Amino acid sequence: MADVCDIQALIKKAEITHELTKCEIVALLTDNQYEADFFAAADRVRREYVGDEVHLRGLIEFSNICKQNCLYCGLRRDNKKVDRYRLDTDTIIDFAGKAKSYGYRTVVLQSGEDECFDVATMVTIIKKIKELGLAITVSVGEKPREVYQAYREAGADRYLLRIETTDKELYEKLDPGMSWDNRVRCLQDIKELGFELGTGCLVGIPGQTIESLADDILFFKKMDADMIGVGPFIPNPDTPLAAETGGTFDLSTKVMAMTRLLLPDINIPATTAMESLNPQGRVLALQRGANVVMPNVTEGEYRQMYLLYPGKICINDTPAHCRGCITGKIQGIGRKVSEAYGFRKKHA
Ligand code: SAM
Ligand code: SF4
Ligand code: FES
Repeated sequence: MADVCDIQALIKKAEITHELTKCEIVALLTDNQYEADFFAAADRVRREYVGDEVHLRGLIEFSNICKQNCLYCGLRRDNKKVDRYRLDTDTIIDFAGKAKSYGYRTVVLQSGEDECFDVATMVTIIKKIKELGLAITVSVGEKPREVYQAYREAGADRYLLRIETTDKELYEKLDPGMSWDNRVRCLQDIKELGFELGTGCLVGIPGQTIESLADDILFFKKMDADMIGVGPFIPNPDTPLAAETGGTFDLSTKVMAMTRLLLPDINIPATTAMESLNPQGRVLALQRGANVVMPNVTEGEYRQMYLLYPGKICINDTPAHCRGCITGKIQGIGRKVSEAYGFRKKHA
């Protein structure tokens, strides 16, 4: 374990060079004494590279039907307690139009892996939303390269697929029937096809080590990801991981802050799961390296049915209310909601 002086030197090294070894990342993630300095460094790097503006992305959760069975997720196919829904094309486009009217410049189309949304349907949805002048992030799981290509050609700008963990063995244990190598293949295809690549990890999944979190951060760097979402794992009582402990807010924000230090110019959301653990979670995350928030713009009762984990915020609120709420929080810390699309501006 590094001593006190080493920790401060490491924080400085990360802030100036944006390069650390795995061993150095582990030392910083395990330190508790200089957390405030560490977070302050991430906040400075955030300000220097991506500025004070916060980009909002409106999240449309359009289907909670999923063919996969990830042990941690409330939407897993074996969870019989979920009321399943799937929005039709017109409703999805209507929600996107409403998001635009609330001032969003990007919508995120997210769902379980629902085969009913075939390529033609998704292409129609993407094209129609594009006509509204919105940027589009798609987050619908693993697909063959040709499918990603069709989404891209239809106008999708970004794709979000978390690696969840770079520990292959752990990944394949927690995501039964799925292959870690295929997930990496998906991420490579997404990058090659010219999407902005979003990935990320869960913090605190059972069996995960600090070393493996350090590997996750180095993996984000190696992939040259454009967006990284880090969130605590929150145990869901209707899943096989019901009795597990879950991730903490502090460790999740540490992994996020480390990501900002090592990938200084990317977009990093203050995640919903962070605020589900801590009522000030998103504001604190915005002060520890984040520059994006993804408020829910799904209308009506569907919000309560997309329940990945208990305590998810905003499930009883309206998109209009959330828009005002998050704007107030952002302005409350002296930051500003961006009016731009918020693509990554790569730093030379
Ligand atoms: N099905 C797509 C996928 O898996 O990429 C997109 C939807 S999935 C619900 C979005 C993210 O939710 C996953 O990448 C996972 O990290 C997160 N998630 C699922 N269960 C969770 C839990 N119990 N706690 C925190 N995050 C969770
Ligand atoms: Fe399905 Fe995604 Fe949940 Fe896995 S994390 S069960 S793929 S919705
Ligand atoms: Fe939904 Fe605050 S963002 S209630």
